[in-house]
Amino acid sequence: MALSTGFDKIKTAVFISGKGSNLKSLIKFSKNKRSPISIDLIISSNSKALGLNYSKNFNIKKKILNFNNKRLVENKLLLELKKNNIEMICLAGFMKILSKRFIKNFKNKILNIHPSLLPKYKGLNTHQRVLNNNEKFSGCTVHFVSAKLDSGKIILQKKVKIKKNDTKKTLAKRILVQEHKLYPKAILKVFNF
Ligand code: GRF
Repeated sequence: MALSTGFDKIKTAVFISGKGSNLKSLIKFSKNKRSPISIDLIISSNSKALGLNYSKNFNIKKKILNFNNKRLVENKLLLELKKNNIEMICLAGFMKILSKRFIKNFKNKILNIHPSLLPKYKGLNTHQRVLNNNEKFSGCTVHFVSAKLDSGKIILQKKVKIKKNDTKKTLAKRILVQEHKLYPKAILKVFNF
C-alpha cells in the first residue's frame, strides 16, 4: 500500500468491543516517529468496553455505536470516518462482522488481528478449540479483512508453543503478548517500512 498523504501519517481508526489491549499497543506504536499511522478515532460497539478509557488517556476521539441495525449503523460509521478523514481501519477485538458493502469502501485498508494461526481456527472460542485438538502450536495472525470471516490475505503470523498445562486463559495471555508486537510489525510491513 502506498503512503497516500506524502509525509503525513495515515489517519487510522481502531474498532474495539472490549479490553482494548491491542488498541493500547497500537496507540503506543503510532506515537513512534517511525510509525506510518496515527490513531485519530476509536469506534466501539460496546458502551462498556474498557478500551474506551484510552480515548481519555491519550486524547483520541471516540464514538460508541449500536450495531443492532447493521445497515443503519454502517451508514453512520461511514459518515463518521469520512468526517475524520480516516484512511485506514484496524480491528482489534472488534466483535461485529462488517458487511461486504462496508468493506468495499475501504478495500485493502481494513486489518484485523485473530488469536490463531489462520486459516486454522477461524471464529470464536479459538483457544479452547486449539486445546481440545491437542495442537502443539497456536499463535496469532494479522490479515486484511475480506467479506468472509477471518479469511482475508495474511500479512504476518507469530507461532506460540502450547505448554502441557495450558488452559484457555494461560494460552490467551501468552498469545496476547505476541499480538501486541505483531500488529505494529504487520502495519510496518503493509507500508513497506
Ligand atoms: C485478542 O485476542 C484479539 O486477537 C481478539 O480479541 C482479543 C482482544 O483483546 N480478536 P483486546 O481487546 O485487544 O485486549
